[in-house]
Amino acid sequence: MSRLANYGSEKASHFTESVIREMSRVAAAHGAINLAQGFPDFPAPSAIKQAAVEAILADHNQYAVTWGTKALREAIAWKVKRDYGVEIDPEQQITVCCGSTEGMIASLLATVNPGEEVIVFDPFYENYGADVILCGAIPKYVRLHAPDFHLDLDELAAAFSNRTRAIIINTPHNPTGKVFSREELLLIAELCTKYDVLAITDEIYEHILYDGAAHVPVWTLPGMAGRTMVVNSISKTYSVTGWRIGYVIASAEISRSVRKVHDFLTVGAAAPLQVAAASALKFAKDYYRELAAFYAARRELLYNALAEAGFQCTKPAGAYYIMADIRPFGWDDDVRFAHYLTREIGVAPVPGSSFFCPDNPDAHLFVRFCFCKGIDTLQGAADRLRKLQHFKASG
Ligand SMILES: Cc1ncc(COP(=O)(O)O)c(C=O)c1O
Repeated sequence: MSRLANYGSEKASHFTESVIREMSRVAAAHGAINLAQGFPDFPAPSAIKQAAVEAILADHNQYAVTWGTKALREAIAWKVKRDYGVEIDPEQQITVCCGSTEGMIASLLATVNPGEEVIVFDPFYENYGADVILCGAIPKYVRLHAPDFHLDLDELAAAFSNRTRAIIINTPHNPTGKVFSREELLLIAELCTKYDVLAITDEIYEHILYDGAAHVPVWTLPGMAGRTMVVNSISKTYSVTGWRIGYVIASAEISRSVRKVHDFLTVGAAAPLQVAAASALKFAKDYYRELAAFYAARRELLYNALAEAGFQCTKPAGAYYIMADIRPFGWDDDVRFAHYLTREIGVAPVPGSSFFCPDNPDAHLFVRFCFCKGIDTLQGAADRLRKLQHFKASG
């Protein structure tokens, strides 16, 4: 066969295109309400939009320093100190990236060697699987058990070994809404210390918490400051998923490695948007309280609509997604169900299997809905989902 017959690389052959983003296209094709991809359909805060316009007019339009505009790095360090009491050196410990998406893969490429194992909780945000493969590393999955997606601490301990290089921890968690408890994180910290393992923590939903749930940054736990890479972004907290501004916080030594990888991946994130992001990070604490209350109302609306339609689901403790069990409708094929719902009912979810390891017995039993939408959008989805209730009664 000609060498040119297949241009795809070996690594690229091991993962598919993003199912989340594919479902957004399917939703648009069928005129369905898109509760698949987690992006807001309401305006971003005026203050941050104004700051972006001013930054462009003030000619912040050329490459920023590759690891991030000084004002943004200082704002990140200021906010981390205010929220968690942790002192970070903005000159040496922060790398601004193109979203946390780049932050995650830059962190992995900077620290993980081919053949090493990376622990990933299953289900997981779909990028992590591809990221680990692109590093030539081996994902080691640890299950979160439905319906409440709890962690079995013995299974966790059994996953660590001398082959483990890193663990990815996403809390609050997409897709399940789980917020890892201090006890769970303390055990993870203990195991990381015992096996000399790095922690890469995706904290993008740190402010979207419900019912008094608290976010515990792994970095603050004993023995973890030197071995943790915090991956975060402004996408979700300030409702600007299209700006692509994220950041990695790590020790000076790890940051040197992350900065090199980042430089050659993307050179830098959009310069004027970095200036505007710095102003967002300075918002007062009330902003974050209001954000959580804003999403709590939407969680209530979508949860009630799903329960009324006949789904079985657990209320998330954080983030803005609900995993819904499709078995009450007699289905056990999440992909067909997600397409059916989009086409016939007019509401698009993401098939759960895009978040699970294929051998997980729950892989095909869930679909994920997001509620980062206006009340009218969610009300419209609730009205459409009522048709499913009739389907269940007659089907
Ligand atoms: C857990 C998690 N991490 C990262 C991302 C991507 O974030 P960003 O827009 O900062 O690249 C998402 C987006 O949905 C997410 O849910």
